[in-house]
Amino acid sequence: MLQTRVNSGLDGVIVADTVMSEVDGEAGRLIVRGHAIEELVATRGFEGVAALLWEGFAPSDQGGGGDERAVREGFALARVRAFAEVPKLLQAAKALTPVEGLRVGLGMLADSELMPHHYLVCGAMPVFLAALLRASEGKSALAPDPTLTTAQDLLRMIRGRRADAVFEKGLDAYLATITDHGFNASTFTARVVASTHAGLISAVLAGLCALKGPLHGGAPGPVLDMFDEIGSLERAGGWFDDAFSKGTTLMGFGHRIYKVRDPRADVLKNTVATLPQTAGRLAFAVEVEKSAIAALRRYKPGRRLDTNVEYYTALLLEALEVPRSAFTALFAVGRAAGWCAHIFEQEKGGRIIRPQSNYVGPRP
Ligand code: ACO
Repeated sequence: MLQTRVNSGLDGVIVADTVMSEVDGEAGRLIVRGHAIEELVATRGFEGVAALLWEGFAPSDQGGGGDERAVREGFALARVRAFAEVPKLLQAAKALTPVEGLRVGLGMLADSELMPHHYLVCGAMPVFLAALLRASEGKSALAPDPTLTTAQDLLRMIRGRRADAVFEKGLDAYLATITDHGFNASTFTARVVASTHAGLISAVLAGLCALKGPLHGGAPGPVLDMFDEIGSLERAGGWFDDAFSKGTTLMGFGHRIYKVRDPRADVLKNTVATLPQTAGRLAFAVEVEKSAIAALRRYKPGRRLDTNVEYYTALLLEALEVPRSAFTALFAVGRAAGWCAHIFEQEKGGRIIRPQSNYVGPRP
């Protein structure tokens, strides 16, 4: 007999075992390969988190994982390799947004490329993003510096000079915080594509396409748009009343898994506080957040909606002087390492992912 119960949005459906990360939506806790996210970000940078995720999964004949230094060197070599593709990318990506440009850039990478593909994509994305941003300002692309970490070099390639250490640390903390997060839509998408043995580059590109949407990685830009519209604190309450009367979805709030506050929100909020001249903006954001939560309780009683990672991502990336248009693409730079880990895990033990649908159309 045909099974007809539909789990809309795959809500509550468990599709795999994973050692990568656990999102505990009731406790508001995130564990990445055995480490609480707060401890992980305090002790490891982005390359360290990538090494941890890849340990035992990245093929040893392709540079492996597990060793932070090797990952740092692999990323640096890959950035240099990817820079050769920049002229072609800029030609093809004219007039595209940064995330659309990244989509083109990843699409240009050949499966026959000899460099290990997990390094290639993770090195290419920061180089492509910086080149796209500079091109949008009429500036020429800056060659990568292989002596630097991803965060250091990315900020340098965007700005044209090294940023102060506190900014570099801030970006590194951001990338480390968002590297992996269970079976979110983009990771699941990447795993579906990996499950067909389409290859790592295709699976990462698919992940990027899923991340691009405003319900997933596209939320932080609109958080700042909301701040602009609210303008001053005394207008916040009225702004939310108006927003709910129009059925607006508040960006940076709500989550499929978290029924309480997303723990990454506080990791990023604390990172914002380490950056110079953020106190005023942070105080504003905290008050707006209180107002938003109060409105969510009022207009969506019983739904258990709280702040998610994107709210303080918006504030952090703004403080790092990253243009709003690049927020989603920057998210992808960090998340790519997590996608690679899941792709390896899928390729290692998974079957093709092929669920069923319930036909409700006419019958012959
Ligand atoms: N603002 C207002 N209402 C909301 C919000 C929100 N941000 N989120 C959920 N709701 C409401 C819905 O309208 C719905 O109400 P209803 O029962 O009256 O119809 C109820 O809460 C349940 O919402 P769903 O959309 O069913 O929840 P779902 O788990 O499918 O969606 C999602 C989760 C997409 C994250 C949603 O909360 C949302 O759109 N949030 C805003 C976008 C955002 O910040 N995305 C980033 C998430 S983190 C990340 O992906 C990195």
